[in-house]
Amino acid sequence: MSNYHIKHLEEYFQVYRKSVRNPETFWGEVAEEHFLWRKKWDKVLDWDFTKPEVKWFEGAQLNITENCIDRHLYVRGNKTAILFEPNDPQEPAEHITYNELHRRVCKFANVLKSKGIKKGDRVCIYLPMIPELAVSVLACARIGAIHSVVFAGFSATALSTRINDCDAKMVITSDGSYRGAKTIDLKGIVDDALEDCPGITSVLVVKRINSDIQMKSDRDEWLQPLLDSADEECIPEIMDAEDPLFILYTSGSTGKPKGMMHTTAGYMVYTAYSFKNVFQYREDDIYWCTADIGWITGHSYIVYGPLANGATTVMFEGVPSYPDFGRFWDIVQKHKITQFYTAPTAIRALAKENLDYVTEYDLSSLKVLGTVGEPINEEAWHWYNDHVGEKKCPIVDTWWQTETGGILISPIPFATPTKPTYATLPMPGVQPVLMDENGSEIAGNQVEGRLCIKFPWPSMARTIWGNHKRYRETYFSAFENKYFTGDGAFRDEVGYYRITGRVDDVIIVSGHNLGTAPIEDAINEHPAVAESAIVGFPHDIKGNALYGFVILKEVGESRDRDNLSKEVNQQITERIGPIAKLDKIQFVPGLPKTRSGKIMRRILRKIASKDTSNLGDTSTLLNPEIVQEIMDNAL
Ligand code: PRX
Repeated sequence: MSNYHIKHLEEYFQVYRKSVRNPETFWGEVAEEHFLWRKKWDKVLDWDFTKPEVKWFEGAQLNITENCIDRHLYVRGNKTAILFEPNDPQEPAEHITYNELHRRVCKFANVLKSKGIKKGDRVCIYLPMIPELAVSVLACARIGAIHSVVFAGFSATALSTRINDCDAKMVITSDGSYRGAKTIDLKGIVDDALEDCPGITSVLVVKRINSDIQMKSDRDEWLQPLLDSADEECIPEIMDAEDPLFILYTSGSTGKPKGMMHTTAGYMVYTAYSFKNVFQYREDDIYWCTADIGWITGHSYIVYGPLANGATTVMFEGVPSYPDFGRFWDIVQKHKITQFYTAPTAIRALAKENLDYVTEYDLSSLKVLGTVGEPINEEAWHWYNDHVGEKKCPIVDTWWQTETGGILISPIPFATPTKPTYATLPMPGVQPVLMDENGSEIAGNQVEGRLCIKFPWPSMARTIWGNHKRYRETYFSAFENKYFTGDGAFRDEVGYYRITGRVDDVIIVSGHNLGTAPIEDAINEHPAVAESAIVGFPHDIKGNALYGFVILKEVGESRDRDNLSKEVNQQITERIGPIAKLDKIQFVPGLPKTRSGKIMRRILRKIASKDTSNLGDTSTLLNPEIVQEIMDNAL
């Protein structure tokens, strides 16, 4: 029996039992058999969720890029590592072999070094989905610098907050990006952000759209000439197992984003292991995950997991609707994609279009389909299964989070029977539990509760950068000795899990995790706004959309409401990015509040969802009369 590659259900159960009974032996064997270590570990696991402190493979030394690149050179040096599909279908795809990737990563790493970047320094990467994004991530890892990739759809303010939070020294960006028929001035956004970032001494700029941009003479440099003169060899920095690999920001229940810090060895072992199993990856497969590397899905399942397995991983620069709604399927046909991993929001958007966009293409190369980011509704699941997978491809509904680093609950294709809307069973080594509101574990099946994990897994985030207290409070204080995910879940009669959604103030819009607090903060900065509350409501394509209840200051009362709505959304676009824009804005005279002054979001959620038949108990409100008034004017 192999721990590493599960092929049928009985094997899954055997491996799972072993992984739970003896996690150290299990993960020790996985790590031993499949990776390149400069020094083996002294201890597989050391943990204490009360602190919380978790260490995997302590004492081991390695470099993750040796595992993702160097060790493949002898066996598959000429195999495509990264297959780049540009925004414009007329522009040829680029096949970057492992040999070429090695050369490019080493050169880039040497450029970083020449700019004074060393082990432990933070480098902010703000790039579109072009090969340089993956290469710069790996170049940081090569020299032990900590990368912090910021999704290139975030605004200047969001970017500067993230740069300052982790004290980054350098930004890597491009002159601009292509997005369908549009171009975006990324360098201009960086320039705005850097007005507030005194710690940035160097900006490297990739030329992508050939636009005319400003270069600040003592700060900005074009990357290409530096690469041209850089050495092709870069000896990897030898890292300790628990040295930080990257920081990635996620929304939280306060306005400040949380910089989730991931470390090296455990993250590598877990992402590689889960990639191999969840996608049933085989040597000649062509794997495509449509996420952006600016999110955790791209980190773990475009870059590290696939490359650690020597896979061919596709990077797509564009959008599913350009030049038309058949683009995804055109790419599947063109590159004979075997595993396709996307988000429910994309599936729903494409399912709305004419079916000819799908049937026109030959999708017979597909073997496994995946989804991630939010619950997938039954209709979307069936559309995906019937029309994309042609009922032959198992759908892996993968549940996980930025914090978990890798997929924790998912079917293993061809082993776990799938069930629409169910993420099904935990991965080996993962021990989910459902908790009730009083903090007790809910036993048995056919039960619903708050989803926690009671034992560490190798790729869990170790802290929030610069704020361990917040890490403890957010994830380890709601339930004693357990990691709390923030999600609710149902466990069915056979023990399958179905994720029911967030139970906190995070709303998932088009698969993006948005905290209500940062959006409210952005709105409240508008001079005419006194206070606001954001809730989610069901949306056909986005899953959830945002509904804002806004109280105006006296200065705003006389203003035109349509203009104010536009300004509120403009404010959000500037502070966060267009992904957080509100679909509906209702100006209200007050918000329903408890006697302790907390906004009763439950009621607002019901109003926004037009589900007002049973509002529950409103008698504890300070101002119960406001509820009717808001309802009467609801949008
Ligand atoms: O609510 C869950 C939802 O996305 C949240 C994590 O968001 P983020 O950190 O941005 O990571 C997204 C990509 C891993 C979770 O707490 N979520 C993610 N996957 C699923 C899901 N909800 C239901 N089903 C899923 N498969």
